[in-house]
Amino acid sequence: MAYNLLKGKYGIITGAIDENSIAWQTALKCHEEGAKIVLTNAPIALRMGTLNKLAELTDAVIIPADATSTEDIENLYEKAKEALGVEKIDFLLHSIGMSPNVRKKKHYADLNYDWFQKSIDISALSFHKMMQVGEKMDFFKDGASILGLSYIAAQRSYPNYGDMCQAKAVLESIARSFGQRLGESKGIRVNTISQSPTVTTAGKGIKGFNVFYDYADILSPLGNATAEDCANYCVTMFSDLTKKVTMQNLFHDGGFSASGMTEKLIDKMMSEVEE
Ligand SMILES: NC(=O)c1ccc[n+]([C@@H]2O[C@H](COP(=O)([O-])OP(=O)(O)OC[C@H]3O[C@@H](n4cnc5c(N)ncnc54)[C@H](O)[C@@H]3O)[C@@H](O)[C@H]2O)c1
Repeated sequence: MAYNLLKGKYGIITGAIDENSIAWQTALKCHEEGAKIVLTNAPIALRMGTLNKLAELTDAVIIPADATSTEDIENLYEKAKEALGVEKIDFLLHSIGMSPNVRKKKHYADLNYDWFQKSIDISALSFHKMMQVGEKMDFFKDGASILGLSYIAAQRSYPNYGDMCQAKAVLESIARSFGQRLGESKGIRVNTISQSPTVTTAGKGIKGFNVFYDYADILSPLGNATAEDCANYCVTMFSDLTKKVTMQNLFHDGGFSASGMTEKLIDKMMSEVEE
């Protein structure tokens, strides 16, 4: 059911690659709620052509941009103005993450440091770049909402999540620093949503992902949040209902981050002991 929460709003959605992507689901919801959007992803990701289907479903234009390149971001914003027919946007979703070390299963004590820098550049600095370029081009409307997607590995150690733990910590810190600046100057909100483990291309690339997933699910009173649940939360954050929420890392994880133990986990462990 749609509520027209984003009627009259214009935005950019990064990071949709297939229908499992959190960004894919978010684009669908934004469209459903009345927003006009531009979709973007790295040129290499667009070669697969899957994004065309989402563009059709959401009546959106696709503009390629490598989010680590300031030139590409400038070009994205210029072209988005033409595509949307507006000078400024109301919302931006940064849904980008990639670690070559994680992808190539490099152990945390054997990291390739060039790849480490790539992980930070792609997964965190790109968030800064999208805001820095946007501020210089005066591309964000007063009161706009900017969101990044994070994971609880920014606060807690997670084996196999490797250097992405650091990348997410940097991402969340950037949200606070830029959030303060853009809040004071233009009433713009900047937040990160810390999402449950979700079955996506990025998620599945993590060794032992199924165990992460099951453990979080059993320790969350509400169970893991799906990509669609996350999309709904993103819509709320882009809407006018959350105008005073900024500089926050918002846990969207079924209660996992505040749980010590759950009945579900006790029962499971007891039954294993009894077996
Ligand atoms: N899947 C999970 O379990 C989970 C949990 C918490 C947070 N997140 C975060 O959610 C976000 C979206 O990931 P997802 O799980 O939907 O996976 P996904 O693989 O569908 O999306 C990641 C996207 O990043 C894009 N990308 C990579 N390098 C890029 C670059 N240089 N420029 C532009 N785009 C680039 C990819 O093409 C892809 O579309 C990421 O920040 C991820 O870390 C995911």
